[in-house]
Amino acid sequence: MSDGKTPEIVIRFATAGDGPALQAIFNHEVESSTASLEWYPLAGEDWQRWLFEHTRDNHVLLVAEVAGAVAGFAGYGAFRTKAGYVDTVEDSVFIKEAYRGHGLGKRLLRRLLAEARDRGIHAVVAAVIAENVVSVGLHHAVGFVDVAYLPQVGHKFGRWVDLQLLQIILDNRPTP
Ligand SMILES: CC(C)(COP(=O)(O)OP(=O)(O)OC[C@H]1O[C@@H](n2cnc3c(N)ncnc32)[C@H](O)[C@@H]1OP(=O)(O)O)[C@@H](O)C(=O)NCCC(=O)NCCS
Repeated sequence: MSDGKTPEIVIRFATAGDGPALQAIFNHEVESSTASLEWYPLAGEDWQRWLFEHTRDNHVLLVAEVAGAVAGFAGYGAFRTKAGYVDTVEDSVFIKEAYRGHGLGKRLLRRLLAEARDRGIHAVVAAVIAENVVSVGLHHAVGFVDVAYLPQVGHKFGRWVDLQLLQIILDNRPTP
């Protein structure tokens, strides 16, 4: 991303053909970081379930392309499954290592929030492993506020991790 020229950045809806690229970006983090608390890469039906959850109904999955290459994605799925939570979603945003720190995460997340607002989503929750200060910073940068801190609710790589919940409310309608 630093060849002297400004590369063309496109934010677009994911298509079926993006599946393998998104799976590779997601699974790289599963294997190397606590960005996701999955312990094992998602494959087969598990990956298809993830994709379905992020594209079904009014859910949205966006892709960032830099000079024609998939550089990252952002999407949202259900926050909780009970009927009354239908207007609240939980976001995900993943940028390939080589493309980080150039504002792509912020662009994707801002667009995702706009798409969610257009679809009548009222609140978006981010459940971030607290040591992921970049993701916490990213969410603050687009307007999320801290709402909860849950110590030691997860573990990965043989150690406890804390969960930080952040939230943004997208509209001011007084009733659903
Ligand atoms: C978290 C992630 C999506 C951020 O994407 P990015 O494109 O690198 O982020 P941006 O360049 O858009 O930066 C957005 C904000 O993040 C914060 N940020 C970025 N790099 C940072 C760093 N090295 N340290 C602290 N904060 C940082 C800043 O607040 C920044 O806003 P600012 O530029 O207004 O200061 C990316 O690092 C990533 O994919 N990480 C691995 C997967 C992951 O953690 N996903 C989130 C799971 S909850």
